[in-house]
Amino acid sequence: MPRPVRPRRSVLYVPAANAKAMAKTAQLACDAVIYDLEDAVAEESKAEARGLLASHFREAAPATGQERVIRVNLRAGAPDGEDIEAAARCAPDAVLLPKVEEPQTLLDARRMLDASGGGGIRLWAMVETPLGIVNLREIVQAGAPDHVGLDCLVAGVNDLAKETSLPLPEGRPTIQHWLSAIVIHARAFGMDALDGVYNDFRDEAGFAAECRQGVLGGFDGKTLIHPSQIAPANAAFSPTEEAVRQARQIIAAFEDPANAGKGVLVVDGKMVERLHADMARKLLARTA
Ligand code: COA
Ligand code: MG
Repeated sequence: MPRPVRPRRSVLYVPAANAKAMAKTAQLACDAVIYDLEDAVAEESKAEARGLLASHFREAAPATGQERVIRVNLRAGAPDGEDIEAAARCAPDAVLLPKVEEPQTLLDARRMLDASGGGGIRLWAMVETPLGIVNLREIVQAGAPDHVGLDCLVAGVNDLAKETSLPLPEGRPTIQHWLSAIVIHARAFGMDALDGVYNDFRDEAGFAAECRQGVLGGFDGKTLIHPSQIAPANAAFSPTEEAVRQARQIIAAFEDPANAGKGVLVVDGKMVERLHADMARKLLARTA
C-alpha cells in the first residue's frame, strides 16, 4: 500500500525539558516537531522531561497537519522502557530512535510500543554513527514492512562528525558521501530522508546554502533547531513555481487525446517520457 505523501520540509527539534518552547510549537509553521528526550535533555532531567511532555500532549492540540514525533533514549542499543511508555501515552505520530545501528533496535521499539498500546505509532530512525551507516541496508530492510512501520531516516550530523572524528566545514564535503547513502537507502525502500541540523542558527546565508545542498542531495526536508529556520526551510524544500508549471504542462501533454498511446513527447523543446509524467504527478502531490 503506498504511503500518503506528507510534507516534511521543516522538522523542528524542541527539548522536552523546555515547557515554554514546547508550548510555542503549535503556532509554528513547521511540518513536524520532534519533542526530544535524548541529547537535548540532561540525564538528571529525563524524568521531569517525560512529565512535561505528558502535560504538553494532554493540553496542547497540534497545529493543523503538524506531525508530532518523540525522540526517545537508547540504553545499550535498546529503546528506554520509560521513554517508550511515556511516548505511547502521548500517542504521537511517530517515535524517533537515535543512533540506530542494528535492525534489532527497530524490532524492539515496535514490540515495546505495541505492548504499551502504541500500535499505531510509526517509527523514524536516526543514522548518525559509523555502524549505522555501514548497516543501513539491513536496518532499512528490517524497518520497511508495514507492521514494523519505519517511515523516515534522519541524518544526525553532529554525532556523525563526533563518531568519525571528521570536521564539518562549510559545505560538509567530509560527510557528503554518507548523506547520499542515507538518501539512496530511504529511496530504495520508499521512505523519506531528512537532512541534519545547522548549528549556527543566526547565520541566515549559511543556513540557506545548506538547505540548497540538502535539496540537491535529494532530502525531503531538514531538521531544525530554531523557529527562525522554519520559513527558509519551507521555501527551500517546496517545489519552485517553475517546476510546478512544467509538471502541469507535462501532465496536460500526456492527457491530451491527440497524444493518446504515445510514450514519448516533446514539451517545451525537451523530450519527455511517461516516467516524467509520473514524476510530475508526484511533485504536484507534494504541493497539495
Ligand atoms: N522550539 C520552539 N521554540 C524555540 C526553539 C525551539 N527549538 N528554540 C527557541 N525557541 C523560542 C525560545 O523559547 C524563545 O522564546 P521567547 O522569546 O518566548 O523566550 C524564542 O524562540 C527565541 O529564542 P532565542 O532566544 O533566539 O534562542 P534561545 O537562546 O532561547 O535558544 C537554543 C537557543 C539553541 C538553545 C534553542 O533554540 C534550542 O533549544 N533548540 C533546540 C535544541 C535541540 O533540541 N537539540 C537537539 C537536536 S540537535
Ligand atoms: Mg544525535
